[in-house]
Amino acid sequence: MRKTMMVGNWKMHKTSKELAPFFAEFAKNTKGDIQKSHTEILFAVPFTLLSKTNEIASKLGITIAAQNVNENASGAFTGEVSTEMLADINIKATLIGHSERRQYFGETDTAVAAKTLKAQAAGLLAVVCVGELLEERESNKTNDVIKKQVETALSKVANLENIILAYEPVWAIGTGKTATPQMAQEVHKLMRDIVSQKFGESAAAKVQILYGGSAKPSNIADLLEQPDIDGGLVGGASLKALDFAEMINISNG
Ligand code: PGA
Repeated sequence: MRKTMMVGNWKMHKTSKELAPFFAEFAKNTKGDIQKSHTEILFAVPFTLLSKTNEIASKLGITIAAQNVNENASGAFTGEVSTEMLADINIKATLIGHSERRQYFGETDTAVAAKTLKAQAAGLLAVVCVGELLEERESNKTNDVIKKQVETALSKVANLENIILAYEPVWAIGTGKTATPQMAQEVHKLMRDIVSQKFGESAAAKVQILYGGSAKPSNIADLLEQPDIDGGLVGGASLKALDFAEMINISNG
């Protein structure tokens, strides 16, 4: 049975003074014991907040993730952060290949593959993101795009240890337009089939596949009900402690 995972993606939001009040409100409104609940909780925060958030959140049983990591061990890569640097501050997870990284910072499928391999080799939990653009969906290319992104992202790894996949249709991110649960389920099923072909049925049955793109308290239940949707990657709604706590409560049922 796959566990549910809810990941808050803070993108380029928040500063350190907001952390304590945020997590106090979040913990207060999350029902039950976070550490024992069915839902694993992660927050992907800006680099500047990693250490401080980790201090606060690890006590609550929440994992803190980076939003990006470089595929090289070290070197002349101005502005980049390595897996060793994340390990140095006790960070155990990272997003990889978020569509905003692909769109605005030129991250290619090949770079995503290299980052995925590097993260796995370093023992980081990697949430690897894929998703089609609006014009790709409208021209019926969704399946081809997803197939290429998933296959390339996973082309360098030998197994799926520590790898989580996230389907985030680009047209649904931050737009208020959510994929219908059926649309999302179709793509999640496709992704699981792609994984099955390469890594076998049991690996495919185990891998968690998260949905992202305007997920919020009002739509998360229907999304999580789908057989191949194992959690959410949540941007906007994760910035509000109450909304995200509500989503966790819904996920824990
Ligand atoms: P959104 O962002 O929930 O604000 O649409 C999701 C994401 O980009 O991870």
